[in-house]
Amino acid sequence: MAALMKSVTVRALKFSSAASFRSTRCSKTPTLCIRSFSTVMSPPSKAIVYEQHGSPDSVTRLVNLPPVEVKENDVCVKMIAAPINPSDINRIEGVYPVRPPVPAVGGYEGVGEVYAVGSKVNGLSPGDWVIPSPPSSGTWQTYVVKEESVWHKIDKACPMEYAATITVNPLTALRMLEDFVNLNSGDSVVQNGATSIVGQCVIQLARLRGISTINIIRDRAGSDEAREQLKALGADEVFSESQPNVKNVKSLLGNLPEPALGFNCVGGNAASLVLKYLREGGTMVTYGGMSKKPITVSTTSFIFKDLALRGFWLQSWLSMGKVKECREMIDYLLGLARDGKLKYETELVPFDEFPVALDKALGKLGRQPKQVITF
Ligand SMILES: NC(=O)c1ccc[n+]([C@@H]2O[C@H](COP(=O)([O-])OP(=O)(O)OC[C@H]3O[C@@H](n4cnc5c(N)ncnc54)[C@H](OP(=O)(O)O)[C@@H]3O)[C@@H](O)[C@H]2O)c1
Repeated sequence: MAALMKSVTVRALKFSSAASFRSTRCSKTPTLCIRSFSTVMSPPSKAIVYEQHGSPDSVTRLVNLPPVEVKENDVCVKMIAAPINPSDINRIEGVYPVRPPVPAVGGYEGVGEVYAVGSKVNGLSPGDWVIPSPPSSGTWQTYVVKEESVWHKIDKACPMEYAATITVNPLTALRMLEDFVNLNSGDSVVQNGATSIVGQCVIQLARLRGISTINIIRDRAGSDEAREQLKALGADEVFSESQPNVKNVKSLLGNLPEPALGFNCVGGNAASLVLKYLREGGTMVTYGGMSKKPITVSTTSFIFKDLALRGFWLQSWLSMGKVKECREMIDYLLGLARDGKLKYETELVPFDEFPVALDKALGKLGRQPKQVITF
């Protein structure tokens, strides 16, 4: 892994039109590079780059990128933090439906501080905290230059680790609770993969709406502790995959109503369990495939329970012109995080320890909190 962090300088960037700028200069950060009288350049950047698809621990490396031009509508952002999500790994592996052309900088969400703005930028100023919203590729680098329209200014009172991670997983949890079944206070939902960040957000967002959650976690070392952690977040019931008497799961529900909505993060047997809990006419929404196993549905699930199977993909939802809604929901979720009503565990890892964070995100070191790189 040490070889991974060997840094390489990339020289192939083009510099073109002129631009003037506003900026702050800070003794702790590099000053802007001024390449000619009127062309403004960002500071050089360090980035985690993959030049081909494959196993992330063998195809990613730290690269020194030269300064890029900050054009008149551009904003140069000094990244503060960005997570390693399962979809980031899938993009690098080349198994994600949307793949940035290689070579590409990893990462899809994160938070940064505005470092400099182009002359026509009015809505952002140096020092503002921003997130790419909707999220966009290339957040695993120290300086990102993108158009003003990419960036959403956020409240600096929000903890940085939540600002960095608020879009991909919490937003998915919120949308899935809103978009498929009309739920009311007193209803319940069932989910597997409940220990994931999405799952933890489902528990908390459902509870805020008076909706109970039935949660399924996998059998592994530490599952008792995980059960208690989920209960502390507000989970009503937590079962391990091997625990339910699958012939009579309803008897495990106690006073909880049978759920009309279920979420599948895992596939395989864990998906079958979600189906067993659903009431007649219920809907299971698949959003992840952590076990890499297919979903098997019994014939009786269709004939006698009329269950519906749906899917959710945040990127597809965002592509439907949802920028305004996305940003409103981000502000709502960040408000919850700031007020301590939305919590999940993260581990902050310095950028130069990226290989360790990657190993943890890949599951090589056992169950770990969400890895968040700090720059
Ligand atoms: N469709 C969308 O738009 C969308 C959006 C966001 C996320 N996602 C997907 O949602 C899933 C969860 O993402 P996240 O960032 O919230 O996860 P995360 O916090 O990184 O947690 C990973 C989860 O997967 C479980 N897991 C890992 N390997 C597994 C295996 N081999 N079999 C069964 N379970 C396994 C973990 O269980 P343990 O606690 O037992 O380790 C944990 O619950 C991912 O598949 C991600 O791609 C989809």
